[in-house]
Amino acid sequence: MVSYAVIGASRGIGLEYVRQLAGRQNAVVFAIVRDAQGSTHLNAAVSGLKNVHIFEGDVTDYRSLERAAKQVRDVTGGTLDYLIHVAGRTDPETLYQALDDYPSMDALDEDCITAYKINTLGVIHGISAFLPLLRAGPTKKIVVLGSPAGDFRLTRAASIGDMAVYSVSKAGGLVAAMKYAVKLKSEGFCVVLLSPGLVDTTETIPGEHGAATGKALLDKWMVENSHGGPPAPCANPEESVRDQLKVIDSLKTSDNGRFLTYTGDDYVMP
Ligand SMILES: NC(=O)c1ccc[n+]([C@@H]2O[C@H](COP(=O)([O-])OP(=O)(O)OC[C@H]3O[C@@H](n4cnc5c(N)ncnc54)[C@H](OP(=O)(O)O)[C@@H]3O)[C@@H](O)[C@H]2O)c1
Repeated sequence: MVSYAVIGASRGIGLEYVRQLAGRQNAVVFAIVRDAQGSTHLNAAVSGLKNVHIFEGDVTDYRSLERAAKQVRDVTGGTLDYLIHVAGRTDPETLYQALDDYPSMDALDEDCITAYKINTLGVIHGISAFLPLLRAGPTKKIVVLGSPAGDFRLTRAASIGDMAVYSVSKAGGLVAAMKYAVKLKSEGFCVVLLSPGLVDTTETIPGEHGAATGKALLDKWMVENSHGGPPAPCANPEESVRDQLKVIDSLKTSDNGRFLTYTGDDYVMP
């Protein structure tokens, strides 16, 4: 049995991870979500599957993740093979804002703090809560979904002035994951950042008009950031996760500390 915990599994890329991993014969999958009952897409996708367990955990609430880790321990007997940390704040209402788009500094502060708690501190909470189980297992693989948006060089090179708070908070997440890679290297861990590429996850945005609003905002952003050329290709979650799992399946201890893309190559600033 190979055990996987996916943090942030209610929708989007995390949901697709659960869906694809659940199809593996010898896999047990732990879907960690903020609201188990409200995760309607996930519940529909895994209905009747015996190898998927849905446990509640909010990456801004460390105690809730500790409780989820205990529930995982009760199923596996004390180990975990893979931690896949997907949870991120990608709320379309604020995602595309530049720093001077906010109506007030209070509004900017609030968004920064919320994003920091999820995208930066959330990575630290997620890894820390599951570390005892990962340490006790033979595999010791941690994958954190990273975004090139968190690389200040991309901001400069591609002139991306918007997506500001998201980028700042993802930058913190990149560094946090890398700190764990350095600290855990001597224990035989492989901690990597993985960029999923541009993925359209708007279909599972909650709310009556969530998907339509999210798609319209994504399409607008793609056009605005194509600098007159054709918009960059955007994968669907199924394609992206299929590629990401190929990368994860081939991870070796010597890959520790790499920032990989869904193609298996190192992330290199375009
Ligand atoms: N899509 C892309 O093009 C892209 C590109 C680069 C990197 N990424 C990264 O890939 C990851 C997934 O992106 P996505 O497009 O799939 O996003 P998404 O569709 O917005 O899904 C985000 C997921 O994170 C969960 N989440 C948010 N806050 C949480 C919290 N406090 N505790 C636990 N879970 C929480 C959400 O759960 P709820 O349902 O409870 O809100 C949801 O399951 C993110 O880290 C993102 O930064 C995405």
